[in-house]
Amino acid sequence: MTHKSKAHTNIALVKYWGKKESKDNLPINSSISLTLDNFYTITSVTYDKNLKQDELKIDDIEIQGIEFLRVTKFMDRIREMYKIPYYAYIDSKNHVPKKAGLASSSSAFAALAHAALKAYGINVSDKELSTLARIGSGSASRSVFGGFVIWEEGTNHETSYAYTLKDAEEYALIVCMVDKKEKSIDSRSAMLKLNEFPELKEEWIENTKYLFEEMKEAILEDDLERIGSIAESHANLMHYVIQETGVTFLTDKSFEIMDLTEKIRLKGLPVFYTMDAGPNVKILTKKKYVSQVLPYYEKVAEILVCYQGGGIESI
Ligand code: PMV
Repeated sequence: MTHKSKAHTNIALVKYWGKKESKDNLPINSSISLTLDNFYTITSVTYDKNLKQDELKIDDIEIQGIEFLRVTKFMDRIREMYKIPYYAYIDSKNHVPKKAGLASSSSAFAALAHAALKAYGINVSDKELSTLARIGSGSASRSVFGGFVIWEEGTNHETSYAYTLKDAEEYALIVCMVDKKEKSIDSRSAMLKLNEFPELKEEWIENTKYLFEEMKEAILEDDLERIGSIAESHANLMHYVIQETGVTFLTDKSFEIMDLTEKIRLKGLPVFYTMDAGPNVKILTKKKYVSQVLPYYEKVAEILVCYQGGGIESI
C-alpha cells in the first residue's frame, strides 16, 4: 500500500495561462514544454485504513493550511474517481525551489498522481495519468512525459492531455536564479484574473494559437533559432498579459538577464530567454553552446544547467 514516484519539472516554451470554467482544470490554450533533468520531485504515498485524514510532509515539514487543502482536495478527486477508500501519508521531496517560477507544482502533482494510483495497485496509461495530474496542476499534465511535450487543451477531461512531441537530446536550458523566495501570488490565482479582461483574453488565445502551431513546426524541424524566438515572443506576450491584469512577476534583475541574452545573441551565440510566473529567467540553447555562454550568465546570477528530463517513473 505504498509507492514512490519521481517526476521532473517542465518549462513551457508556449505557455499555459488561463482556465476554462470547469472543475477539471481545463486550460484555455494548448502549450508546449521541455522537461528538465535537474529539477524533480520524489513523492511516496502510503494508504492506511486507520487514518482519519491525509497527512502531508513536504521536504520533511508537516504541512497544513492552504497547501494541505489543495493536496487533500486532489486526493479526494483521486479517491472518488478510482474508488480508493483510504486516506494516505504523503511524503514529498522537492529538488527544486518551491513557487519561484520553476514549476515545482508540475513535478509535485505528476509524482503525486502516479504514486497515489500505484500505491493502490492501479495501473493507467500515461495519457490517463496526464489527465489526472492536470486536475492537481495544469503544468503537471506535461510532467508525465520527457523531452518536448505538447499539452492539448482539449474540450473535456478525457481530451485534455499531454504527450511527447520529440526528443530534446541536443537541447539545454540554463536557469538563472534571480530569486528563490516564494512568490507573492501563485499562478493559479494570478491566471484567474484574466477572466476579468475578456478582450485581453481573446487577444491572448488568438496569438497563442498561432505561436503554438509555429512552435510545433519549429521543434519538428529542430530549428533552434525559430524555437527560441517563438519562445521569447510568447514569454513576452504572457508577461504583458499578466501585467495588464495587475500582477508583476519580473524584476529589474530579470530584465537585465533578458537584455544580456540579446547582447550575447548579437555575438553570434544562439541563446533565448523565457520566464514563468516568477522572476527567474531560463535560457534555451543547445548543449554544444553551453560552455561558451555560461561565463556571461555566471557573472549576473546563480546558474543551474539542465538538459532534457525523462518521463515519470517508479523508484
Ligand atoms: O499549472 P500551474 O499552476 O503550475 O501554472 C503554470 C503556469 C506557467 O508556468 C506560467 C506556464 C506553464 O505553461 O507552465
